[in-house]
Amino acid sequence: MSKINMSSVDFETMIIHAGQEHDSAYGALATPIYQTSTFCFDTVEDGAAKFAKQVPGYHPVYSRSGNPTTRAFELKCACMEGGEDAVAMASGMGAVGSVVLAFLKPGDHAIFDDSVYGGTNFVCTTNLPELGVEITRVDTADREALKAAIRPNTRMIYFETPNNPMIKVTDIAAVKAVAGPDIRVVVDGTFAPPPLQYALKLGADIVLHSITKYINGHGDALGGVVVGSAADMALIRNNCMTKINGCPPSPFNSYLVLRGMKTLALRMERHCANAMAVAKYLESSPYVKHVYYPGLESDPGHELACRQMENGLFGGILSFELKDDVKGLSSFEAGKKLLNSLTIPAIAVSLGDPDTLIEHPASMTHAGVSPEARLAAGITDGLIRLSVGLESARDLINDFEQAFAAL
Ligand SMILES: Cc1ncc(COP(=O)(O)O)c(C=O)c1O
Repeated sequence: MSKINMSSVDFETMIIHAGQEHDSAYGALATPIYQTSTFCFDTVEDGAAKFAKQVPGYHPVYSRSGNPTTRAFELKCACMEGGEDAVAMASGMGAVGSVVLAFLKPGDHAIFDDSVYGGTNFVCTTNLPELGVEITRVDTADREALKAAIRPNTRMIYFETPNNPMIKVTDIAAVKAVAGPDIRVVVDGTFAPPPLQYALKLGADIVLHSITKYINGHGDALGGVVVGSAADMALIRNNCMTKINGCPPSPFNSYLVLRGMKTLALRMERHCANAMAVAKYLESSPYVKHVYYPGLESDPGHELACRQMENGLFGGILSFELKDDVKGLSSFEAGKKLLNSLTIPAIAVSLGDPDTLIEHPASMTHAGVSPEARLAAGITDGLIRLSVGLESARDLINDFEQAFAAL
C-alpha cells in the first residue's frame, strides 16, 4: 500500500498514487500488466481457502472476477470519487448494463432522464421493458416532473450530468432529496469526471463512467467503471458483472487507463479552457444560432454548474446549432458542410480524446432514438456536438473561421 494518506493530499497527488501497490516481485513503479486468465494455488487447500475468501489480502483466482492490474484501476477510481469501492468493466455500456441488471427486477419501476446516450436510451426503451421493468422518461432537472413520476415501486433514478448531447446540467443533490433513501440515484458522470464533479459527495448513490472518454483520455481503450458503497459494488461484482455480464476490461486496457489517469487533472484543465474559448467564439459567430455549454453565462445551467462543478471547470464538450438560411442553406445542410470543411476536428463519435472530435448526434450517436424523442429532448437535425481536444485553442478557432468562410 502507498504510504500517502490520500484524504490529506490534493487531487493532483492522489490521482497519480492512489491504487498503486508496491510491486513485491521486483519493485516496479508502474503497475505491471498481469496478462493472465487464471492464478495458480499452492495446494488444493490453498485454492479452496482463496475461493472461500478465507485468506487475508487480495488473492485473485480468475481474471473475470479479479485481476491485480484491474484492481489497481478500480482502487484509483474509488479513491478519485470518494466511494467505498469500484467495479471496472470492459466498456461504459458494460457499466450501465451491470448497474441496471444488479438493481432492477421485473415489476420494478425506474425513471430515466429524457435525454441520455443512445446506447443507454436503448437499454431503457427496449431492454428493460423486455425484462418487465417499467420505465418513465422525464426531464430530471425538472423537480416537479420528477416528483410526479415517482411510484411506490420506483427503485432507480438515472441521469447524466452534463448530459449527452444537450450538455444539460441536473442538480444531483436536488434529485437525491426528491428520491429519498430508498430510491437509488445513479449518475453517469462521463462528461464531467473528478476534479470537475463529485457525484457521490453531492448525494448520488452510484456514479458510473465510460472510461473510454476522459478518464483514459487517449482514445485508445474502451472501459467503464461503477463506484459506490462496498455493499452495492459487491452485489454488482458477484451477482452481475462476473456472472451474467462477464465483462471485465482486459489487463492491458486497465494498464492503459492507469497510465492515462495520471494526467487527468492536467488534461481536464486544458480541455475545459479550450472548450470555454471555442464556446465563446462560437457564441459570437454570426452563423451560430445557439451554443450549449454550461460555462457560458447565457446557459440556463450556468448558475447550477457554478455550484455543482468544481474549480470553474465546466467540461470539454459543447453542442451548437447553426442558423437557418446560412448562405441559403438550412441549419442541417450548413452543419454538414461545416464538418466537411474543418481540418483539425476528426468527424467521429466518442469524446474526451486529445484530438478534437466532432459529430452529428441525429445521424450518429442518437440515430437510434426516435425522431419524436430526439426533438422532445432538443436534439434537432442541425445540432452538432464538439469534444474539444488538447490542441491550441487558437488553431481550433482559426479552423472554424476558415470553415465558416467556406460555407
Ligand atoms: C454519457 C455516456 N455514457 C455511456 C457511454 C457508453 O460508453 P462506452 O462507449 O465506453 O460503452 C457513452 C458513450 O459515448 C456516453 O457518452
